[in-house]
Amino acid sequence: MSQVLLAAEGLQRRLGGRRVLDGISLNLERGQGYVLSGDNGSGKSTLLRVLAGLEAADAGVLRFQGEQTQLPRYPDSWRPRAVYVHQHPYLFHTSVAGNIAYGLKARGEPRERWLHKVEEAMDWAGVREVAAVPPQKLSGGEKQRVAMARAKVLTPELLLLDEPTANLDAEGRRRVMDLLARLYAEGVSVLIACHDRELIELPGVQRLHLENGKLS
Ligand SMILES: Nc1ncnc2c1ncn2[C@@H]1O[C@H](COP(=O)(O)OP(=O)(O)O)[C@@H](O)[C@H]1O
Ligand SMILES: [Mg+2]
Repeated sequence: MSQVLLAAEGLQRRLGGRRVLDGISLNLERGQGYVLSGDNGSGKSTLLRVLAGLEAADAGVLRFQGEQTQLPRYPDSWRPRAVYVHQHPYLFHTSVAGNIAYGLKARGEPRERWLHKVEEAMDWAGVREVAAVPPQKLSGGEKQRVAMARAKVLTPELLLLDEPTANLDAEGRRRVMDLLARLYAEGVSVLIACHDRELIELPGVQRLHLENGKLS
């Protein structure tokens, strides 16, 4: 039986006099993968950021597991549960491990607790072999995998990934897509924005398309 994790109703967002989100409603189920396609400027990033509480909506209702809010109010308690990963993730000027540990440290977890989680996440993302490389020197795909590990260690229920495979070579794409498929197989709900030209082929995903402010 499917279980709705996050439900959105009537999301509205006007930007520059245009209705970027024009009454969007959707249900995201637990442990399901979704691909959100749409042209450049169709509002994919805006939708992801509204769902993560990083950008205000003008109107709409969100329900996260039965708890409801009227936007633009977004409960702080939801933020660690719905994590957004930027298209060009910013990596801090510390080590790969330091980047992955960042959110855990910010939560005040003691070292002996986060150390093990960071090690696991590095193995999961396959970034141990580049652990000694300064993050700014990593390839695009390696940066993306570090960013995914950094998000995953926070054990969010919903991951919102903004064009995670754009500008990657074939091998980089394959590795990121492999991680994406494993995430929803492990019970995390995953919403992946991607450009129309770059339709992501992933097993079992549901497809959503954003055009003229509406979902289809
Ligand atoms: N701060 C802003 N002010 C005005 N317009 C914006 C702003 N941010 C985004 N937009 C516009 O909103 C639209 C949707 O942008 P975006 O969500 O980034 O689309 P996508 O991710 O699908 O490329 C675009 O037309 C963009 O120019
Ligand atoms: Mg975008």
